Amino acid sequence: MVFNPSFPYRLAHMVVAAFLSSALFVGASAAWHLLKGQRSPAVKRMFSMSMWMLLFTAPIQAFIGDLHGLNTLEYQPAKIAAMEGHWDNSHGEPTPLILFGLPDMEDETTHYKVEIPYLGSLILQHSLTEQIPALKEFPTEDRPNSPVVFWAFRLMVGLGLLMITLGILGAWQRYKGHLFEHQGLLRFAFYMGPAGLIAILSGWVTTEVGRQPWVVHGLLRTQDAVSAHGDLHMSISLISFFVVYGLVFGLGYIYMIHQIKLGPDQHDDTPHEPLTVSGRV
Ligand code: HEM
Repeated sequence: MVFNPSFPYRLAHMVVAAFLSSALFVGASAAWHLLKGQRSPAVKRMFSMSMWMLLFTAPIQAFIGDLHGLNTLEYQPAKIAAMEGHWDNSHGEPTPLILFGLPDMEDETTHYKVEIPYLGSLILQHSLTEQIPALKEFPTEDRPNSPVVFWAFRLMVGLGLLMITLGILGAWQRYKGHLFEHQGLLRFAFYMGPAGLIAILSGWVTTEVGRQPWVVHGLLRTQDAVSAHGDLHMSISLISFFVVYGLVFGLGYIYMIHQIKLGPDQHDDTPHEPLTVSGRV
């Protein structure tokens, strides 16, 4: 894993994703208290820190994501073609960037495309003429599911762009002196609370669905790596996962909501004086 050529990009992208998700969650908790009129210094500090974190790390995440995409183009070109919903290069023209559309695996096309000419070539090849590989250049059985990968990728990038927007709006309101009062900003920050986790999940879907039909790219197919255990064994282990994860995450979720409702002021954050001899008496 460590010597996999995509490792540095995945590690950097995931670490920044974790910082972003935490910042969004802390920011949403603080925004909720601020919207309710609780403006204690601790709540303000929470909100301020999370806005700083977003301002710097969200654009960095987009930059790392771009580098990650270039690496994927080199090592898993079919995944990129599926992410872009790009089916053929027959006209010899530079590749456009499809913003939205409905990729169709049977008809081998993307319906209702909204595209920007040249932009695909510009982003992925840094050139105005070079094409990117198209799905039809790969045998049918080697193509990932384009509709899933196409939309999972757009959800991740769309949320990333919203995070950048929130960071910039936060900086603007800070500059104007309304960081803790601007209702629109506070609501935006509140609703963005789960955005980091959703972006992480859609990133993983992009990665994992996009690498199909391979478990080890070009060497081992998923169908050849499937466990030889029977249905009963697999069902028991799958249900056990659901139960254990449900308990761990369910209780964790209840605990976190409880802590958020308490708010930072309920915690005693003054350093405790060591007990003196007279204090003990
Ligand atoms: C804003 C622009 C973004 C771009 C251009 C971008 C780009 C990419 C690309 C190209 C992949 C790789 C797919 C692959 O080859 O397997 C990826 C995966 C991923 N992205 Fe993003 N991304 C962006 C934003 C985000 C955000 C905001 C998050 C989360 C906060 C995120 C989380 C992830 C995760 C968790 C993966 C899977 C990494 C792995 O385990 O391999 N991305 N992204």
